[in-house]
Amino acid sequence: MAFPKNFLWGGDISAAQIEGAWDEDGKSPTEADYLLGADKNSMRVAYYRMPDGTEGKVSVMSGMLPKGAKYILKDGVFYPNHKATDFYHHYKEDIALLGEMGFRALNLSISWARIYPYGVEKGVNQKGVEFYRDVLKECRKYGIEPVVTLYKYDMPAFYIEDWGGWSNRKLIDEYVEFARVCLTEYKGLATIWNTFNEINVPLMLCKMVHKTTADLQRGYEEIHNQLVASAKVVQLAHQIDPDNKVGCMCAGFFAYPYTCDPNDFLKLQQEAQAGFYLFSDVFVRGYYPSYAKSIFDKEGVVMNVSEEDKADLAAGKVDYMAFSYYNSSCITTHEVDATVKGNMMGSIKNPYLDASEWGWQIDPVGFKRALHELYGRYQLPLLVIENGLGAQDTLEADGTIHDPYRVDYMKRHIAAMKEAVEEGVDLMGYTMWSCIDLVSAGSGELRKRYGFVYVDAHDDGTGTFKRYRKDSFWWYKKVIESNGEDLG
Ligand code: BG6
Repeated sequence: MAFPKNFLWGGDISAAQIEGAWDEDGKSPTEADYLLGADKNSMRVAYYRMPDGTEGKVSVMSGMLPKGAKYILKDGVFYPNHKATDFYHHYKEDIALLGEMGFRALNLSISWARIYPYGVEKGVNQKGVEFYRDVLKECRKYGIEPVVTLYKYDMPAFYIEDWGGWSNRKLIDEYVEFARVCLTEYKGLATIWNTFNEINVPLMLCKMVHKTTADLQRGYEEIHNQLVASAKVVQLAHQIDPDNKVGCMCAGFFAYPYTCDPNDFLKLQQEAQAGFYLFSDVFVRGYYPSYAKSIFDKEGVVMNVSEEDKADLAAGKVDYMAFSYYNSSCITTHEVDATVKGNMMGSIKNPYLDASEWGWQIDPVGFKRALHELYGRYQLPLLVIENGLGAQDTLEADGTIHDPYRVDYMKRHIAAMKEAVEEGVDLMGYTMWSCIDLVSAGSGELRKRYGFVYVDAHDDGTGTFKRYRKDSFWWYKKVIESNGEDLG
C-alpha cells in the first residue's frame, strides 16, 4: 500500500464560511459578516462609515480600514456568511455524514469571535467554548481526528476597527490567549493544530489592492506579527500537551516559467520566494531566509526584527508543514495575451491545462511537483490542507447530484499524490476542500460548490438547507475504505 495505515483522509470546513449563526450565542461580527457576495469576475467588498458620516468600501480580507472607520451593514443586501450553510445548527448531522464516509480527519477552524468576542479584557464566551467542545466530541464519536485551525481570517471585527488589526502588536498577546483557551479546553480532544490558515494570502491581497509603500510596510508587519504569534503558540501547545503536533499553513504558489527564457525562470523563483517561501522558511526553520532583505529592499519596506522576536521564531518551529493546492499558474517577463480569469487567481493561460469555470487551472502533475518540492526543501512531514474543485452542481428531482467533474479532479490529484508518496514524500494526510458545501471565500457565492455533501442553499438567500449526498460522496468513501488504493 502506498499510503500509511494511519493516513489522515478527510476534508476541511471553515467557521466563517459554513457556520452561519453570525450573531448567535454571544459571537461578535467578523470581517466576513460584512462582506457582500461577488462573482467570478469581481472581488468582494465591505462597506464602512467614517466618523463624519461619509461611506466607502474595502476589498475582501484586506483587513485594512481607514483610521476611525467602522464596518456597516446595508439594508436589503444579502450577506452570504450570515447564515452560510448553517453548520452551527446542523453540525451533528454533518459530522455523521462525514463519519458515514469513513473520514479519519476533519480540518475545522475555530471562530475567535465565538471564544473571545470582545477581546481578552471582556472575557471568554462560554457558549462558544462549549459549541466547539461538542463539535470535537462529535468528531471523536466517529473516529475522526480533528485538525484544528486556530485562525482563518475571522478575528472579531472590532480588532480591525479599533486596534488596526494585525498591524497592532498587542494582537499577538490576544491571539496567544485565545489559543491558550482552545489548547487547554480541548486538551486530549484535539492534538493536531494549525496556527494560521494560508498565512501568505493577506499579503498577496494587500499587494493586489493597496499600492503605496506605507500599505506594503503595514502588510509585511502584519504577517511578521502573525509569524511571531504562530511561533509563540507552537511553544505553548507543546507545553500544554507534549502530544500536540502543531503546524502552520501557506497557500500553494506553484507556477511555471511561460517560456524557456532564463529570465522567466528567475522571475518565477523571485515570485515564489516573495509569495510563499519567505513565510514557510520562517515557520519551518525559525528565522528569516537570506533572500528576505532583498525582497524588503525591493518593496521599499524596512523590517527590524527584534532579538525577542528572533528568539520566539527560533523556539517555535512547526512539527509539520501544511499547504493548500488548487491550481498552478505561469509567469513570464514577456507580453502575453492569453489569460484565464479568476477573481483572485487570474493567470496567463497554460496551453497544456484546462481551467475550472472560475478560471483556476487544473494541474495534478503540479501537485506532485509541489509535494516533492516542499518535502525536498524541508524534510518535514507534510499535510495537505485544502485541495478541491469549485463547480456548479445540479440537484436532480430524485435527490441525487452527479458530479463526475469533481471525482475526476480528485482522482487525478490523489493519483499524483500517491506517486509522490511512493517516491518518498512523508505525507501525514489529505483533507479535501470543502467536504460540505459552504460560501466561497473569494467570490461569496454559494453556487461555487466544493463539497461531497450538497447543501440546498442559494445565492438569493433561498433554500431548505437540507443535505444531500453527491456521487463524489460514495466515491470518496471507497477511496478511504481502500486507503487510497481504489480510485475507481
Ligand atoms: C482557500 C481558502 O484558499 O481557497 C478557502 O483557504 C477558500 O477559505 C478556498 O474557500 C477556495 O476559494 P474560493 O474563493 O473558491 O472559496
